[in-house]
Amino acid sequence: MADSSPPPGIDTTIPQPARFWDYMLGGRDNYPIDQEVGRQVLAIFPDLLDAARADRGFLVRVVRYLVKDAGIRQLLDIGTGLPTANNTHQVAQANAPECRIVYVDNDPMVLVHARALLTSTPEGKTDYLHADVRDPELILDGAANTLDFTQPVALMLLGIMNYILDNAEAHSIVKQLVDALPSGSYLAMSHPTAEVHAEAIKTSIAQYNASGAPPIRTRSREELVQFFDGLDLLEPGVVSCSFWRPDPTDIGVITEVTQYGGLARKT
Ligand SMILES: C[S@@+](CC[C@H](N)C(=O)[O-])C[C@H]1O[C@@H](n2cnc3c(N)ncnc32)[C@H](O)[C@@H]1O
Repeated sequence: MADSSPPPGIDTTIPQPARFWDYMLGGRDNYPIDQEVGRQVLAIFPDLLDAARADRGFLVRVVRYLVKDAGIRQLLDIGTGLPTANNTHQVAQANAPECRIVYVDNDPMVLVHARALLTSTPEGKTDYLHADVRDPELILDGAANTLDFTQPVALMLLGIMNYILDNAEAHSIVKQLVDALPSGSYLAMSHPTAEVHAEAIKTSIAQYNASGAPPIRTRSREELVQFFDGLDLLEPGVVSCSFWRPDPTDIGVITEVTQYGGLARKT
């Protein structure tokens, strides 16, 4: 559990997305209010834990693919979350130490812990921007201090567009960001869906949204595929994060989770 006296600017009376997700991932940077809503949601839908873990597994496999197989050396990770194991820069730089990563989040708690994200290799670079995804222009301007937008960039939007409830706004944000990237760039997205475990996920999201936390929504596979319009969606398309190119060494039966993921290339 985080220290009982929170850092300045941290509101511990309302659950916050990054801290809630940290709780789901077994982290310690969350407060009783986040744990309470976490327990309520898990009581309705215990499999959310699998979805959270599958989402992180997806992140690891996508970043490894991008750096090792696709030659990507620059990543823009928006909606970073609280530092945990296998942060984007760690996975990327383990495969190519010269990788440059810009992290973006709007949660003051992530800002407080951003130091753990700024542990770059000497050959590479990491930076952190405290910004809202609703302001793509500001993000692109800030990221340009670290990333060269004439070279391919992997844009990572994992578990974040579900906070942008309005479809037109969500599409406009993704379009503005993707339009700024040169050909050879990539878009990775993960997003909760109600196409798996429909009733449980709907009830648990209603419970979460009633908690006062910034509300979230689900989207269908068809709706998610639309975010990749104009890009080449890589195999196996938009699928349960756990089904996206699982490691051959993964043990046991891989089950479908309520979090979809996909990766596409800009030509
Ligand atoms: C569910 S967590 C996902 C963390 C990480 N990307 C992952 O997949 O494990 C969502 C993150 O998005 C951030 N977030 C939510 N709305 C945002 C917004 N409008 N602008 C920037 N970040 C936002 C939250 O603070 C949180 O850290």
